[in-house]
Amino acid sequence: MSTVAQASPNIAFIKYWGKLASTSDQDRNMAQNPSLSLTLSQAKSTVEISRAEQNEFYIQGSRANELDEKKLRAHVQRVCEAYLKPAEAAQARFRIHSANNFPKGTGIASSASAFAALTVGLVAEITEKSKAEDELKNNLGLLSQLARRGSGSAARSVAGPFMKWDGEAAVVIESPWKLYDTILIFSEEAKKVSSTDGHARALSSTEFPARLKRIPQRMRLIEEAIRTQDLQALGPVLEEEAYEMHAIARTSHPPIDYALPATKVFLAALRELKSRSFFYTLDAGPNVHLISERPIGKEISTLLGDLNLAAKIWEDWTGPGPVIVSRT
Ligand code: PMV
Repeated sequence: MSTVAQASPNIAFIKYWGKLASTSDQDRNMAQNPSLSLTLSQAKSTVEISRAEQNEFYIQGSRANELDEKKLRAHVQRVCEAYLKPAEAAQARFRIHSANNFPKGTGIASSASAFAALTVGLVAEITEKSKAEDELKNNLGLLSQLARRGSGSAARSVAGPFMKWDGEAAVVIESPWKLYDTILIFSEEAKKVSSTDGHARALSSTEFPARLKRIPQRMRLIEEAIRTQDLQALGPVLEEEAYEMHAIARTSHPPIDYALPATKVFLAALRELKSRSFFYTLDAGPNVHLISERPIGKEISTLLGDLNLAAKIWEDWTGPGPVIVSRT
């Protein structure tokens, strides 16, 4: 038997940046603040899972390294413990292939889509396809909190179009609003400081407590902008939030500057534009995500040319969340 499942990454409008101290696997990757994101659709992680004599994990066609292997083993265990009897969970072993259709180091968080796909796929493999589909409809909280324990932001990739994560798990924000995320890839190099280290260092920034106080108001504004589908209301809050996350990183000890010169030139040029139909957000990396209500790839290529900047462009948009492609 084998199961194929897919999930897409998400781009955070309100960032998860800073974790609470954890004392057990249950409270792994609990965030310091609520966050909210848009689930994408074109970037995808696909996992293929089958039962095996021994655990064997492959990422992009190659055997997982020791660190990834450890994370994947722990994740398989926690999902099995949630859905199987203890004796069955202890004995379960799998061969898992995980692959992304988007390049590594694009600044698109592959751990979110990979752990969401793995969680949903494992549930289908150890129960039934219909059971996993039912869980996606009726027990999303459990799937979200399991995915969160694999990688924090994965809590927000178990559904779409928008998810708000506060506490143990994320919940869906239903909306018919189709938004585009045009990603400017200035560098495909892996970031020098991992998000795990970034989360830990965030708490050392003297700006961090003030950021936490600002989040509830920002969350209200963003939720209202989604409800009213008001991009001009969303945009400035989105940019302030992204800028602040990078400011926290820059004022951490030791400091982290995720931006490249090209990132800074591009953002400075955006600030000069009088009116805009797109707004930026950033992840923990140098690449820029532009949020708009229509495709803007061509327009952005021209703008990059005018600025003498080179970037690859990935065009994505709102998606519905994971699917179980097959279980045979
Ligand atoms: O899930 P992690 O540990 O890779 O953290 C992701 C953090 C950001 O992508 C920078 C922000 C977010 O909320 O997704």
